[in-house]
Amino acid sequence: MDKLHLTVLYGGNSGEHEVSRRSAASVLRHLDRDRYVVTAIGISRDGVWHLQRDPVFETLPSGDLSLTIVPSDHPVAIVPAAGLWHGGVRLAVDCVFPVLHGTHCEDGQLQGALDTAGLPYVGAGVLGSSAAMDKAVAKSLWRDAGLPIVDFRVVDANDGLDVLAEAQQAFGWPLFVKPCSAGSSLGASRANTPAELQTALAEALRHDRRALIEPCLDVRELECSVLGNGEITVFPPGEIVPNAAHAFYDYEAKYADPDGASLHAVALVDATLQQSIMDIARAAYAAVRCEGLGRVDFFVDKKTGQLFLNEINTLPGFTSISMYPRMCEAGGLGYADLLDRLVGLALERGPAIRASRP
Ligand SMILES: Nc1ncnc2c1ncn2[C@@H]1O[C@H](COP(=O)(O)OP(=O)(O)O)[C@@H](O)[C@H]1O
Ligand SMILES: [Mg+2]
Repeated sequence: MDKLHLTVLYGGNSGEHEVSRRSAASVLRHLDRDRYVVTAIGISRDGVWHLQRDPVFETLPSGDLSLTIVPSDHPVAIVPAAGLWHGGVRLAVDCVFPVLHGTHCEDGQLQGALDTAGLPYVGAGVLGSSAAMDKAVAKSLWRDAGLPIVDFRVVDANDGLDVLAEAQQAFGWPLFVKPCSAGSSLGASRANTPAELQTALAEALRHDRRALIEPCLDVRELECSVLGNGEITVFPPGEIVPNAAHAFYDYEAKYADPDGASLHAVALVDATLQQSIMDIARAAYAAVRCEGLGRVDFFVDKKTGQLFLNEINTLPGFTSISMYPRMCEAGGLGYADLLDRLVGLALERGPAIRASRP
């Protein structure tokens, strides 16, 4: 069997640069070198693509480490209809695996560039990526599909105090404020008073031009791995239990505090709730036109038991302890096999336009 030329992208000019480097370390360690000729491209924080000449990843020790990016003098260029180029040479690329998260990387921008270059890639296309990244758009699509969401208002810097007053009137205190488009809980906070609401909004609007205001719920946080293009596999849900020291599942609980949260690859839920979560995850994935993979995140209101969709991540964390691969593994699909499936799904979908072959 001919080996596939697989190009792994990592780093990126997003707030989740560091997480991506950890995800990439794990992906590169698990890719089967009997199947793939792997090329890694590290994207710096300012968005420059650096070809990683040395296979630094082949000797990666185990553990959750962050992959470095070695700067190169000649950046890699994406060329319309002609793939990736480096120093006047076209790189052999059968498939791109963007192990990237967040703005510019997960929101359709990168996907559009890869489409223009004629390259197939792992994960959702432009529409699915951008619809999923914008929480107001995703939630509107889900509401139209009759799926359960937490009610919300969208605000921007030009909105007056009347919009905030209306949200407060509609939802009561406390409120939860977050950017429409961000990730890793960046810019998210709760507000108990009008003054806190102003502060929370200013913080959210540092990360995006629009923010969501929602009722702040006391919730269990459950999530589900979904895999596939037309034919979709949904894995049983897992649960994240943030440590009580954190007001919610904030950035510190996710990445800075080693005891920030307990991650359960299998959630302790009854069969009825499990089935509802899996059914809604399937419908939510399809409603935003997701392809390849997606992690669908839910809330269960601790008081009422009501189930809500929260968000969908089209390029979820892929570190050795990340929920997406762990929930797949708990459902019978191991990490290396999962990577093979993802590449297979990318090739099945193929390039958006046909690039001329080298
Ligand atoms: N309406 C809400 N009520 C209570 N907590 C919330 C609400 N929305 C978000 N959160 C908390 O904030 C975290 C991050 O919000 P989320 O919408 O998942 O954005 P991100 O893309 O940054 O992960 C959630 O995991 C949850 O802990
Ligand atoms: Mg989240």
